[in-house]
Amino acid sequence: MVGYAFMGAAHSQGWRTVGRVFDLPLTPRLAAVCGRDGQAVRAAADRLGWAAAETDWRALIARDDVDLVDVCTPGDSHAEIAIAALEAGKHVLCEKPLANSVEEAQAMTEAAERAERRGQVAMTGFNYRRVPAIALARRMIAEGRLGTLRHVRVSYLQDWLVDPSFPLTWRLQKPYAGSGALGDLGAHAVDLAQFLAGEPVAGVSALTETFVRERPLLAGASSGLSAAGGPGGGESGLGQVTVDDAALFTGRFASGALASFEATRFATGRKNALKVELNGERGSLAFDLERLNELFFHDHTEPGVSAGFRRILVTEPDHPYLEAWWPPGHGLGYEHTFAHQAHDLVRAIAEGTAPAPSFADGLQVQRVLAAVEESAAKNSVYTPVPV
Ligand SMILES: NC(=O)c1ccc[n+]([C@@H]2O[C@H](COP(=O)([O-])OP(=O)(O)OC[C@H]3O[C@@H](n4cnc5c(N)ncnc54)[C@H](O)[C@@H]3O)[C@@H](O)[C@H]2O)c1
Repeated sequence: MVGYAFMGAAHSQGWRTVGRVFDLPLTPRLAAVCGRDGQAVRAAADRLGWAAAETDWRALIARDDVDLVDVCTPGDSHAEIAIAALEAGKHVLCEKPLANSVEEAQAMTEAAERAERRGQVAMTGFNYRRVPAIALARRMIAEGRLGTLRHVRVSYLQDWLVDPSFPLTWRLQKPYAGSGALGDLGAHAVDLAQFLAGEPVAGVSALTETFVRERPLLAGASSGLSAAGGPGGGESGLGQVTVDDAALFTGRFASGALASFEATRFATGRKNALKVELNGERGSLAFDLERLNELFFHDHTEPGVSAGFRRILVTEPDHPYLEAWWPPGHGLGYEHTFAHQAHDLVRAIAEGTAPAPSFADGLQVQRVLAAVEESAAKNSVYTPVPV
């Protein structure tokens, strides 16, 4: 694994847990973790359960005891690490968004396709597909429970950037992050919309905004969504925010369904509110990540007198992933999505099947993000997304 902070810790939790909960055809072994600071990466290896530590990802990839490389670094290094790992014969799991540009994501997808012909697999880390309620929603949609889809509505709301004194971490700088709320949160929203609807977004019309344009330079370390505050240097002690703080966009599917998206880090009070609602001719589904064991279903074929949204508590053994966990009602959380991700990837490796979401799926999300930026730069003009 490369990178050991927020996602590194979450993925480690998944890798440590998966083989103890699920019956797997292969046993994951946490061979080596890589970071740039020798002392810090050795401490992380001990804390997170990795057998060895490396300070150069090239050395990690060159190790004979590494079969799978898990990329948990910011987007600016995804393409270089993932392509090198694939070319060295390793399977790859790469965090989302797959890359910082369509060109990088395209090169990664081509490398994954070449590697697939040699029996390797590559997966993009859209872990929310592995929330049992989301996997159940996909199953119900595929079974036709919603009928023809009319609306897909996804918002992903957080509030950790509201304070203008929050420092300028990598997430706020285009060279490292590619984009802001759009690539960080919007990427999940687009992936879920395409996964649940079963088709790509065909075109978008968008608005983006950067509410706080300058922030204190980072004085200390940052990890995930937290950071030590500035001022840390420079003449003014301030630096430019070069990404969006929020992105709002509408979209079309080729089937005729309409979609709406909202991604922001400025929704005060919303901590990790990824909300999805789908309306079809036969019914609707609604989900909120802040209540992730629940899926709401309205069956529109029932008589109106008793119809209405009802709560499905997604903890039954025949719900996706739940056969291996706790008795009904003993819920799961955020971290379990990473064990499920590891489960699906290990099974794909063992069975020689292509895992989803593939790098091609990650590329398709990247094309939507690029179209959103293009539309926003042109007064929200409708912008088709190539497939
Ligand atoms: N799936 C999700 O829900 C989710 C959530 C958060 C972040 N992410 C994604 O995960 C990735 C990492 O985000 P994070 O929140 O973990 O960031 P982070 O800042 O917490 O951690 C980044 C890690 O990468 C390391 N790193 C950076 N460049 C490196 C290099 N060249 N070589 C070795 N190590 C390097 C850093 O030292 C750090 O350990 C991003 O792509 C982000 O979009 C996904």
